[in-house]
Amino acid sequence: MNTQVEHEQQIPLLNLKSVVKQVKTGSDELTILQGLDLQIKHGESIAIVGASGSGKSTLLGIMAGLDQASSGEVCLNGHALHALDEDQRAAVRADGVGFVFQNFQLLPALTALENVRLPLEITQKHSLKECQALAQQWLEKVGLGHRLKHYPTQLSGGEQQRVAIARAFACQPSVLFADEPTGNLDRNTGKHIIDLLFEFNQQNKTSLVLVTHDEHLAQRCQRSIHIDDGAIVKDNDHIEATAGAYV
Ligand SMILES: Nc1ncnc2c1ncn2[C@@H]1O[C@H](COP(=O)(O)OP(=O)(O)O)[C@@H](O)[C@H]1O
Ligand SMILES: [Mg+2]
Repeated sequence: MNTQVEHEQQIPLLNLKSVVKQVKTGSDELTILQGLDLQIKHGESIAIVGASGSGKSTLLGIMAGLDQASSGEVCLNGHALHALDEDQRAAVRADGVGFVFQNFQLLPALTALENVRLPLEITQKHSLKECQALAQQWLEKVGLGHRLKHYPTQLSGGEQQRVAIARAFACQPSVLFADEPTGNLDRNTGKHIIDLLFEFNQQNKTSLVLVTHDEHLAQRCQRSIHIDDGAIVKDNDHIEATAGAYV
């Protein structure tokens, strides 16, 4: 067995211990997450489900190293995020973490191709020529080979989300965090976006952490965690993740 596989079997992708998040609102302190424990395995697809305001996005931000817990421990890929400063967390994110958000978050001054190419250039793992070729290949994979030079405002919502997916997967992340990725899309377009996410998740052996309030969508993941008022109230393994069953 190679050492990489051994390493991945021993250390979970994500390990959360007693994670609390509190924020100050005026003179009050609001507790958004109330001491969460959670482990996620490498390659797993997991849905975080809960009503609006239950703390899903806060949890995702902390798991992905975008935000910090008030107390508790968060280990991502063996990195103790709670002990790192912002620059160090940014380095962890750049090396193996992909994001897809509800509002796409493309850079408006860059074309589709440039949006996908930029993070590849930042990692400095490829020559500029390779970055260009990889960005083009990923846009072709998401069906946007004919939209390389379009700016985000010239693309539909579904097309923008496909650019965001190409951008995330081009960097070959070990985990993709998606926060309500279909929230701004009509049902049909949303289904295509989710099909792409699951296809790439399986092909690239990427772990998928998907925040959604959509139970149908959650059923397509191998596991779903339900959160209510900042606490995990249910943790379900789906014996057969029915990737084709979402209609
Ligand atoms: N920075 C913040 N300051 C004050 N309240 C916040 C902050 N971030 C989130 N909240 C509140 O915490 C709760 C959970 O937010 P969030 O994680 O965005 O929920 P969800 O993604 O499940 O809708 C909400 O009531 C929200 O208003
Ligand atoms: Mg949210």
